[in-house]
Amino acid sequence: MGVDLRMAMRNFATGVCVMTTYADGPNGRTHDGVTVNSLTSVSLDPPLVSVCLRRDSTFLADLLDTKVWALSILDISATDVARAFAQKREIRAAALHTLSATPGEDTGALVLDSPAWLECRLRQHVDVGDHTVVVGDVIATGAQRGRRPPLVFLHGEYHAGRCQQQTEEAVK
Ligand SMILES: Cc1cc2nc3c(=O)[nH]c(=O)nc-3n(C[C@H](O)[C@H](O)[C@H](O)COP(=O)(O)O)c2cc1C
Repeated sequence: MGVDLRMAMRNFATGVCVMTTYADGPNGRTHDGVTVNSLTSVSLDPPLVSVCLRRDSTFLADLLDTKVWALSILDISATDVARAFAQKREIRAAALHTLSATPGEDTGALVLDSPAWLECRLRQHVDVGDHTVVVGDVIATGAQRGRRPPLVFLHGEYHAGRCQQQTEEAVK
């Protein structure tokens, strides 16, 4: 049997985030953000997360310079946001201007108005295959009570995850 990783992983439901960083140049700070679903919680003590980024990504190059980033976890109202940040850099830059986003206090990376966010500082990065795994210390987190279902990526499409209220009732 051959290997078709994409086909197999289409069946693995994930959450969706916008990951942001920036570049400081002669004309000031340029922010960028990309849609990612490879976020993994790696360690609780110390708090660490990882994200896999395409090795030839300009976003990755910026991140390896600044060594900081933010992750905003999206809900179903942000489907268009997820679509915009999976496009080329100019479209992403335009999207950042129209969104409600504020620089994170600890990193300066933009935090979107979203159910939860993390600010991270680079601890380690490893080139693996055609991607680079970045591992970051989580230096700040925030959450607001979610009123909407989380955004879920499955079978190459966006879906609404089960409502939080139902989940809370299920664990009571
Ligand atoms: C749902 C979804 C999840 C994605 N997750 C990742 C990811 O984890 N890592 C990655 O490198 N690209 C991921 N992408 C693709 C990037 O969002 C997209 O290629 C981005 O524009 C890359 O920016 P770049 O041109 O700087 O590489 C994802 C796209 C979608 C639609």
